[in-house]
Amino acid sequence: MNLGRRRLHLGVLFPVNPTTTVWQGGMPGSQIDFAAIAGLAVAAERGRFDYLLLADDLRLPERNGAVTEVGVAGRHDLLTVLSAVSAVTDRLGLVATVNTTFNEPYDIARQLATLDHLAKGRAGWNAVTTPDAWVGENFRRGGFLPHAERYERAAEFVGLCRAFWQGGDGTPSAHQGRHFRVEGRPVTASDGTEPVLVQAGDSEQGREFAAAHAEVIYSRKKGRAGLDFYADVKGRLARHGRDPGQLRIMPAVTYVVGESRAEAEELARARRLEIVTPQMATHYLEALWGCDLSAYDPEGPLPDIGPDLDGAAAFVTGRPTAMDARRRVDRVAFLRQVAESRKLSIRGLVALVTHTKALAGTASDIATEMIGYVEAGGCDGYIIVPDRAPDGLDDFVEHVVPELQSRGALPAEYGSTGLRGHLGLPERLPARR
Ligand SMILES: Cc1cc2nc3c(=O)[nH]c(=O)nc-3n(C[C@H](O)[C@H](O)[C@H](O)COP(=O)(O)O)c2cc1C
Repeated sequence: MNLGRRRLHLGVLFPVNPTTTVWQGGMPGSQIDFAAIAGLAVAAERGRFDYLLLADDLRLPERNGAVTEVGVAGRHDLLTVLSAVSAVTDRLGLVATVNTTFNEPYDIARQLATLDHLAKGRAGWNAVTTPDAWVGENFRRGGFLPHAERYERAAEFVGLCRAFWQGGDGTPSAHQGRHFRVEGRPVTASDGTEPVLVQAGDSEQGREFAAAHAEVIYSRKKGRAGLDFYADVKGRLARHGRDPGQLRIMPAVTYVVGESRAEAEELARARRLEIVTPQMATHYLEALWGCDLSAYDPEGPLPDIGPDLDGAAAFVTGRPTAMDARRRVDRVAFLRQVAESRKLSIRGLVALVTHTKALAGTASDIATEMIGYVEAGGCDGYIIVPDRAPDGLDDFVEHVVPELQSRGALPAEYGSTGLRGHLGLPERLPARR
């Protein structure tokens, strides 16, 4: 193996999704506990991670018209939270998810510039576009933007933020587009850097937006799909006058370290069952069946009744999406077949079908796999999603990070103070006027 030829990049996601992570002491409350966020940030910094990423939605998850149990604690404003994290860390990049459909460029440019200033060049922005009417109900412009136009708005939004950030010489840069007409006066005195732009979509327009603007892609692509995605998106950069080194593609992965590969794989299976609680298993089926299944024991066999094809939407957790009836019927038939052939309970079945492959093995196995996939052209690094919280990154920092460092894939010390430096990106982008 060509060890140390390329370094890889690491981010960590603060895990607020109950389908990926078990929270010690229960999730509501813990997910907004500053000590949990700060603890994860400090652990990541000890492991020389490039950044901490916080995800967001502008509406809490609901089910049947009420906020779900895990949603009741609410979700705080990420830029405010990251400002506090900046005070307990020195080097770690701080990436906030901020929506381009429901905000205004000037406000966001100013808030991000403030974080970047407080954190001395460590801010990043995961620019997301979610345009739907469900989130829109919280905003004046509820559902106003057709799906096809959201990235058009996002591109104007990002261009304007950059104009605001780069207006340090005091020259206004007037912008007249479909979505905004703004003078583009400087937002604040510039420190000579600007937040790193992260993108996390996968449609054709999402990929084009990333190729034109993004400096990091937060993806979910692994294996063969990841290799194709990497080649496709990196191949688009030249058309936008960019070099492949100006974009880091980083898939989200979870991990399980064991004394042996077999032990780690067994642990991964056990953790999956722990994550899929009886209630989560029942809810998973209810979204497909479209009716109340609380009378069925999650440790018992699948319901003997068929799906109610009119009732699905109310039983979905989160966005009430209307699911295609044909696909639901096929999915139910598939689940029955898997449950019967493997003799699985409802919970065992849901744990199996919602499983995404973790990096499982000894610390050395995990390091080998991570480096190998970077060298094969699958990604430039990883966003680690701990499957336990709040201390779920500790194992990784203690065991896997030293392996990566000994192979030259991760530096022993930070070589730069800001996020751009950690990611090997230019300190300052060319002016966009
Ligand atoms: C890995 C990944 C993570 C995402 N995280 C968020 C998030 O935290 N908040 C959000 O509003 N949207 C999030 N999104 C949604 C995207 O930003 C985007 O709005 C959505 O994927 C639709 O874009 P697309 O059609 O290009 O895929 C995420 C998407 C992906 C693929």
